[in-house]
Amino acid sequence: MQLSWLFVQVLLAVLLPVFCLRPLDCAGVEEDGVRWDVVRLDLSHALGEVLHNGALSRDLHASKDSKGRDPAVSYGDVQLQRHLERLQRLVLVLPEKSRCPLGRYCLRVLVSVLYSGLSWEAWFRRYEEDLWGLIHGSNWTEAITAEWPIFQILGLVGDLYEGQPYPVGCEVEADLGRLAAWLKSPVQEAAAIRSNALPLLRHSCALARAGAAAALASAGMRLSGEMALAMPGVDPALLAQSQAALRAAASDRHMGPKAIFTRPLPAFFLHLDEAQKRLRRKWQKLRERLDILYCGPLEIEEELQDLCSNVQGDCKIHYHQDVDRPRLHPGPCFAHYRQASQAISNMDHAAAMSSTVLLVSPSTWIWGEELTHDVRQLLRERQRWARDISVAGLPTINRSRIFNWPVKRILHRHWKLAYEEYATGHETSPFLPLAQFWAVGDTTSGTRAYSTLVFKSLLESLSRHELEYTTALPKTQGAIEPSDGNEAAENWLVMLDLLGKEAGLRAYTFLTGASLENVYQAEALLSPRISRTFHIESARFLAQKGGPSQEHCLFPTSGHASSFTQNHGVVVSWCTRKALKTMFRDVGGWWLALDPLRHIIVPVSASVLNLYRSGETELFPWDADIDANFIASHDVVVGEFLQKHKDTLNTMGYDFVLKGDRAVFKTLADTARMDIWISGPQDVRAYDIRGRLCGLRVNFFRDQLAGSVWYYRPGEKIYGNTRGQLLHCRWKGHNACLPDCVRNGLGVGTDGCEFPDRFVHLAE
Ligand SMILES: *[C@@H]1O[C@H](CO)[C@@H](O)[C@H](O)[C@H]1NC(C)=O
Ligand SMILES: *[C@@H]1O[C@H](CO)[C@@H](O)[C@H](O)[C@H]1NC(C)=O
Repeated sequence: MQLSWLFVQVLLAVLLPVFCLRPLDCAGVEEDGVRWDVVRLDLSHALGEVLHNGALSRDLHASKDSKGRDPAVSYGDVQLQRHLERLQRLVLVLPEKSRCPLGRYCLRVLVSVLYSGLSWEAWFRRYEEDLWGLIHGSNWTEAITAEWPIFQILGLVGDLYEGQPYPVGCEVEADLGRLAAWLKSPVQEAAAIRSNALPLLRHSCALARAGAAAALASAGMRLSGEMALAMPGVDPALLAQSQAALRAAASDRHMGPKAIFTRPLPAFFLHLDEAQKRLRRKWQKLRERLDILYCGPLEIEEELQDLCSNVQGDCKIHYHQDVDRPRLHPGPCFAHYRQASQAISNMDHAAAMSSTVLLVSPSTWIWGEELTHDVRQLLRERQRWARDISVAGLPTINRSRIFNWPVKRILHRHWKLAYEEYATGHETSPFLPLAQFWAVGDTTSGTRAYSTLVFKSLLESLSRHELEYTTALPKTQGAIEPSDGNEAAENWLVMLDLLGKEAGLRAYTFLTGASLENVYQAEALLSPRISRTFHIESARFLAQKGGPSQEHCLFPTSGHASSFTQNHGVVVSWCTRKALKTMFRDVGGWWLALDPLRHIIVPVSASVLNLYRSGETELFPWDADIDANFIASHDVVVGEFLQKHKDTLNTMGYDFVLKGDRAVFKTLADTARMDIWISGPQDVRAYDIRGRLCGLRVNFFRDQLAGSVWYYRPGEKIYGNTRGQLLHCRWKGHNACLPDCVRNGLGVGTDGCEFPDRFVHLAE
C-alpha cells in the first residue's frame, strides 16, 4: 500500500496540468440582470426534479428517437415546467462574456439538451464549446464545492445520449462496469472498489484513469485509498486526477468532448455528485456546533439544553437569568449578549463554517414544547439552506397572544433610523425552492438563527464601526463613556439588524411555527452607544407611521456639524437642521406676529435657493445656516429694538449677538445659528412675490430672484460656503451620504444628483 501510494503521487504530479484555471467568480455576481447564485440554485432544483423524480427522464427517453427532446410536451408538472421555461428564457439573455463562464456553460448545456430538437450530431457540433468549457475551462473542485450541479448536467446528457464507443487499445468497459455496479449496490463494497480501482489509476488509457478516480471519489475515498473525513466532500486530488484524465481523453482528435459520455462514465459523475453531498453533510454533522444565547427573565436553561439533543457536535448554552429585569431599566443582559457573541466570534473560520448561533430574544415571555418544536424546525431548515440563508427567524406571538408579523424594512439613512412595514408584508425569495415557505426582509423575529460565519463577520464590522464612526465625531465634554450596563438588551438585536442591513443580508422568516415573544423593538432605546456607533440622531423603532421617535444629538454646535459635512460630503446632522428650522420658525414667527401688516421676511443669499429645492416646510439638507432680512415699513433701531425684546426671546429659548447691522440668532445652547439683518423703514409692498420657508410666509422681489439665479446657478448643487464643491460623498457607505453630482469628474452620478425620496427631510 505504502509503495503504490507513493507511485500514485508521482504519477499525479506528472499528469496534472501545470496551468491554473481562473478561479470561480460566480457567488454574489449579477450581470445584465442574471444573478448567478439564483441560477445555480434554480438549476439544482430543476435537475433534482428531473433526475430523481424520474418522470421527466422517462419522457425524454421516449421522445429521444424522434430527435426532438422537449420535456414540456408530456410532462404534467406545471411548476417544474415554469422553472424550465424560465431557464430557457434566461439562456437568451446571457451575457456573451460572463464573469461566471461555468454558469453560462451549465445553463446552455442543460437547456439545449432538453429543448434543442437537434440530432445528436448537430447538437454536439453546436454546443461543443460549452462542453469543452465544462471539461477544460472549469475547475471541478471549485465547481462542486460551490454546489454547481455540473455533474448532474453531464449525467443527464449521458443518460439521454446512447454513449460513445471505447477507442481502440482501451478495453476497460468490463472493469469500469464492475466498478459502476459496486457503486450502485446498497452496501458499498469499499474493499472491492479500492482493489479494482487502484490498478486502473495507472492504466495507459485515459478513460480508465478518469473512471477509476471518479469511482474512488464517489465511494468517499481519498487518493490513498483510505476512507477519510478530513475534508468536506470528495477528495480534490482524485477529482483533479479524474478531470485531467478526461482532458487527456478529450484531446484525442476522434473523441473530442464526447469522450466524457463513454459509458459508464456519466454514471460515475452522478455518483460523484451524490458523494459530494453525502460527505459534506456527514462532515458538517460532525463539525456542526450550536451556540445558544439567552438573557432574560425566564428560567429556561433546561429547555434550551433540550435543543442541543439533536446536535452531533458541540452545543453550548450562554445563559443568564435576570429575574427582576425591570422594564425600561436596562440591566446586565446587553453585556451578556455582547460578551457571549464576542466569545463565539473568536471561533476559527473553518469551525464557523458549519456552525449556527441561535439568539433567543430577551422579550420571550414563555417557553413550551411547541416553541421547542418550532425552533428546532427553524434550525433544521436554515441548515438545509445554509448557503443561501444566513439569518432566519419566525413569526411572533406576543404575551397577549396577538400575532405580530416580524418582517420589517429598515431605513437607516441621513442620520435617521426607521423600522417600516412592507407594503405587502415582505419580499419574495429570488430562489425558487425557497420562495414558497419563506418570507424575506431586512429583519425578522428577535429569536433568530445566524450562520456563525456571518455572525462573526457582523461582529468584525461592529468593531470597525466602533472605531471609525465614534472617533470621527466631536468629543462630548463631560459625558460618561457608554457602558454596557446602561444598555437595553433589545439594543443588541437592533445593532445586529443595522450591521446586517449594512452588509446587505436578507433575513428569512420561516412561515410555519411562531416564536413566543413580544416585539423587541418596543424595548429598544436610542442610547448614546447606538447613536455614536451608527451615526443616528433620530430613531423610530416601531413601525407605525408617525409613531414615537427618539432623539440623540451628536454635534454640540452647528460649526461642528457643518465642518463634518464639509469633510465627509454628507447631509448636515439631523439635530442641527432641526434646531435651525425650529429657530427660524420661532424667531421668524415672532417677527411676523409683532406687526403682521408691516413686517416681512426676505430670505437672502443661498437661502433663496430653498425656493427651488426644498418645498415649503424644509431646508435643503446640506445647508447648516439661514440668511434673511427682517424688514419693517416703520423705523427700526436694531440695537434698541432687540434689547427691548431680549427677555421674550430668552424665554423662547434664543439669544442673539449684534454684529454691526447684523444679528446672529442662536439657541441658548448654541446648537444652531442664523444671520438676520433687521431694517426699516422700507417699502414692504415692493416685495410682491410670496413664498413659504419652513412653513413661514416670506417675500421676494422679481429682480432679487433673477439675481440669485445668475449668481448661484442653483441647478447645480454645491455645498460648502467659500470653497464650494459639487455634492459628492467622501465617506463611502456612510448613511448620510450626499448624492453624487460628480461621478469621479465624469459628470453627474447615476442617482441624477438627487436623493431617491424625501426621507432625508426632518418631517418624513
Ligand atoms: C482548482 O481549485 C482548487 C481549489 O481552489 C485549487 O487548489 C486547484 O489548484 C485548482 N486547479 C486548477 C487546475 O486550477
Ligand atoms: C401585543 O400586540 C398588540 C398589537 O401589536 C398590542 O396592542 C399589545 O399591546 C401587545 N401586547 C403586549 C403584551 O406586548
